[in-house]
Amino acid sequence: MNYHRIGVIGLGQRIAHVLAAMKEVGWMLEVAGYSDPSPVGLPILADAGIEPGRSYRDEAELLADGPFDLVMIGSPNHLHFEHLKTAFAAGYPIFAEKPIVRTFAESYALGRILSGTAVPPLFIGLVMRSMPIVREVIARADSGELGDLISMDATEHLPPEHGAYLARNWRRRQAWGGSFMLDKVCHDFDIFGRIAGARPAQVASFAGRRVFRPDRADVPLTYEDGTAAYAGRDAGWMGANDAFQSDMDVDDHQVAIVHYANGLALSFHSNSHVSLQERRWYVAGTKGTMLADLVRNKLMIRPALDRRKPERIDYATRTADNHNGADQAMAIDLLAALEGERAFPVTPRDSLEAGLTVMAIDEAAATGQMVDCRPMWAAFDEAMAPAG
Ligand SMILES: NC(=O)c1ccc[n+]([C@@H]2O[C@H](COP(=O)([O-])OP(=O)(O)OC[C@H]3O[C@@H](n4cnc5c(N)ncnc54)[C@H](O)[C@@H]3O)[C@@H](O)[C@H]2O)c1
Repeated sequence: MNYHRIGVIGLGQRIAHVLAAMKEVGWMLEVAGYSDPSPVGLPILADAGIEPGRSYRDEAELLADGPFDLVMIGSPNHLHFEHLKTAFAAGYPIFAEKPIVRTFAESYALGRILSGTAVPPLFIGLVMRSMPIVREVIARADSGELGDLISMDATEHLPPEHGAYLARNWRRRQAWGGSFMLDKVCHDFDIFGRIAGARPAQVASFAGRRVFRPDRADVPLTYEDGTAAYAGRDAGWMGANDAFQSDMDVDDHQVAIVHYANGLALSFHSNSHVSLQERRWYVAGTKGTMLADLVRNKLMIRPALDRRKPERIDYATRTADNHNGADQAMAIDLLAALEGERAFPVTPRDSLEAGLTVMAIDEAAATGQMVDCRPMWAAFDEAMAPAG
């Protein structure tokens, strides 16, 4: 295995966790340094026994101090596009966190860059692609045993502490995070598009902010055992103190329906303040049904005309970060991709398509209109068309 010299743009909690997972699965790595005005991830790196290296003034100073075997981008979402462009110019392989970019315009602009110029290898942290349960979901859908996929419903429900963190962290502002759905469920819509084998044709959505708002009276601020609620995690860069009194302008719950171009109909329900946590995909095909419970890491499948017990696969790994071993699996995939052994499980194009899907859903919610996705895909395909 090769030794890897790494530069980090945005040393937040996420990149620190990914670096810890990389070390855990055996990467030989050295973090040469980072550019970050207030590196929230330092304590996580320290816990993992990884030295953070030098603190650089900005990403330009960092990248000038190459060569790097990998540049990792973990800044807030509104900075991804600029940080990617700067890193492209430096030419080293890049791992960048999702969502790949934050807006329609950035998606098309990045598409043009990716199709028009030689860019270094780019790996996006759509970490669910690396999870064994998700690989199985994809393999089962691809195998044909479910038949044609007809309809599907999916959820992502977060416990109150997680919702409160989103309401206090930079994700609370559209200008930094994009939207509740873009930041949280671009993962899920990446997989839905992959198993559908088609793009959304039409989307509709309703969303709102009805939980984390200042005018709610008598919100209890403790759990039943007396411990403080809504304040469990450091809110980090541009953080706000109070989940209810912050200047949040993103939604805290959202529902969406999606009609894919091949006929698959999907409904999605998300809420950031629930006491029964759930992330679940229910996939109904002509020949079989599949239910993936991503929180409990369990998969259940049964052919349509089979009355015996369903096949159950229990992936056993459950971790407190709710990633259930995904970070370690992605770290192995990233190493294999960098060393030329196999392709990374998700491409920049996939990542852009997942982001655009969620942006169309958000546009539907914002306008109250059903969105016809065809103009969006036409603009995207034009951006991605090879120059010439
Ligand atoms: N794949 C996943 O499962 C997953 C999970 C969490 C977060 N993420 C993504 O990772 C990214 C970071 O999220 P996070 O949870 O680590 O947030 P965070 O707030 O912990 O970290 C963000 C870091 O960016 C830094 N930063 C701010 N401005 C900067 C600048 N100009 N240059 C460099 N750094 C700057 C902040 O100081 C902070 O340290 C986001 O894009 C998020 O969507 C992905």
